[in-house]
Amino acid sequence: MRFIPAPCLRGGMVCAKRIRGKNGELLLNKGARIQDSYIRRIRELGIIGIYIEDNLSEGIEFVDIITETQRSNSVNTVKSLFENVSKGVPSSRSSIQQLRKTIDEIVETIINNKDLNVNLSDLKIYDDYTYFHSVNVGVLAILIATRMKLPNNRLSEIGMAAMLHDVGKVFVNKQILNKPGKLSDEEFSEMKSHSERGFEFLRFGFPSFSQDMLRAIMEHHERIDGNGYPASKRSGQISEYARIISLVDVFDALTSDRPYRRALTPSDAIEYIMAESNKAFDPIITKFFLSCVMPYSPGTTVRLSNGWVGIVVRNNFEASLRPLVRVIRHQVAELESDNDFKPYEIDLLNDKTNLGITILGHIDR
Ligand SMILES: [Fe+2]
Repeated sequence: MRFIPAPCLRGGMVCAKRIRGKNGELLLNKGARIQDSYIRRIRELGIIGIYIEDNLSEGIEFVDIITETQRSNSVNTVKSLFENVSKGVPSSRSSIQQLRKTIDEIVETIINNKDLNVNLSDLKIYDDYTYFHSVNVGVLAILIATRMKLPNNRLSEIGMAAMLHDVGKVFVNKQILNKPGKLSDEEFSEMKSHSERGFEFLRFGFPSFSQDMLRAIMEHHERIDGNGYPASKRSGQISEYARIISLVDVFDALTSDRPYRRALTPSDAIEYIMAESNKAFDPIITKFFLSCVMPYSPGTTVRLSNGWVGIVVRNNFEASLRPLVRVIRHQVAELESDNDFKPYEIDLLNDKTNLGITILGHIDR
């Protein structure tokens, strides 16, 4: 299978993965032949692209980091939790319980599949931001913490803190929260208050939450150079959970479509994170992040430095920019290949003859 961005979809392509709408309803089944009317609908819904099955990408597969059911359960739980938080502590209790169960299941899935890496296109199918963002941040934080060999009880803790990192936004003025334009200084300080408001709500309402979890929520916008908020803390003063969550929060936000800008590709967002390492982000956390988030997932169509076009088949985890690539044509043209070209694979890391070839970037969006 391979990923085709929404603007490049054509009638007749075959859907490789089930597509669900924002409320979990089935939009497109695996194996369905895509019609022009579906393509219009896909674009209207803000779905950024879909996986298709074709001859060129035969045999290219990937493993989802969590199951579709786990993702939709988590999103629904986070959604009802955020709604209940605005009604107060007692109404939130059962949602917190439910979320804890869902997170424990996700932790179990991740620790049982130690080689899992993030397939980003898969995380980014939907445009419904807040709840998907919370779940993505939770999953990424657990994944990094697993790589850092944190004990299991801490994996669940960081998952919970990460999914709740923005819970304080429930208390922020809705007009400011949803304002598309630039915020005034006063509005920005109201927005920034979400870290402390989330912290206070959980500290009083949920005494069982550990100090580390509460600090993660309070400190998730701190930067290690001291230019963050609310307390301008520096590296060692910021808790480990917060250092992990702040990085994945920014990364997930960058790779999501927002009303004011298009999503960055995973490779561009990774480059940004690397540039901010040692300024906003802890370099050690950045290193673990880079070991589990791949810039080019299997099924991504890429342009190579010599003008060739290929599909990523498999990552070489020790060198994430040099995967195994199936070359599908030798000139940059439409996404379809010319019929006479016989695809072949090159390993950008291990084939000595191809060491001069690098990936320039994703093809189109
Ligand atoms: Fe936040």
